[in-house]
Amino acid sequence: MAYEVIIPAAGQGKRMGAGKNKLLLELKGIPVFIHTLQVFERDEKCDGIVLAISPQDEEEFNILLKEHQIKKIKAIVYGGKERQDSVYHGLEAAGSEGIILVHDAARPFIDVPTIHKSVHVANEYGAAVVAVPVKDTIKRVLYDEVVETVDRSSLWAIQTPQAFRISILKEAHQHAKDTGFLGTDEASLVERIQHPVKIVEGSYDNIKLTTKEDLYFAEAILKKMKG
Ligand code: CTP
Ligand code: MG
Repeated sequence: MAYEVIIPAAGQGKRMGAGKNKLLLELKGIPVFIHTLQVFERDEKCDGIVLAISPQDEEEFNILLKEHQIKKIKAIVYGGKERQDSVYHGLEAAGSEGIILVHDAARPFIDVPTIHKSVHVANEYGAAVVAVPVKDTIKRVLYDEVVETVDRSSLWAIQTPQAFRISILKEAHQHAKDTGFLGTDEASLVERIQHPVKIVEGSYDNIKLTTKEDLYFAEAILKKMKG
């Protein structure tokens, strides 16, 4: 089943501390956001990409999109202050029916079978998030003292893509805007309109490049995937 994808790429990468958007850092000579876009470019089920960027990256991004022959870009929009604002702007440029995915440009290791699984589940249930079971022991802490150990068996670490029937995601984003709710992902907005969200089990390889340590992991994952 076909889908469109919104790719938020309009962050500043502050925690990476690279002095520029972390998405411009190269892995094997290719910028991080191009790795991510290539996955969707090569997936024949992807009908179009809406890319949210910040104005200061526009020139460089455009050159790189051309150089790497990314042809499925349907629209480039400016992001906003928060990731949620960037996705909201992306939604305005997206189609009006069918399945829409939101996938962070900072997760270049997403695999096509997981994308397709999320599309399939969203088509059936309306909303799906890719996630992996939490591996660490998690404790709730107040100042420097443990309050409790949380039961790990029901905890999942949430990734992207997050996939939705577009009408549901639009309603959820509008509701969040109207009520001033800021979530850390799309699903949290959908939860607030009381729509169930299904989990699609993904891969521990689908890391988000956030701090500089993640670059070592990224090199290793890339080596495993592409040799
Ligand atoms: N993003 C966005 N618009 C924003 C903030 C983030 O489009 N206002 C994008 C980022 O470019 C990234 C994804 O959302 O692809 C996930 O965000 P995150 O990992 O937090 O990236 P940054 O916000 O760039 O990093 P930091 O929070 O360390 O500054
Ligand atoms: Mg951020």
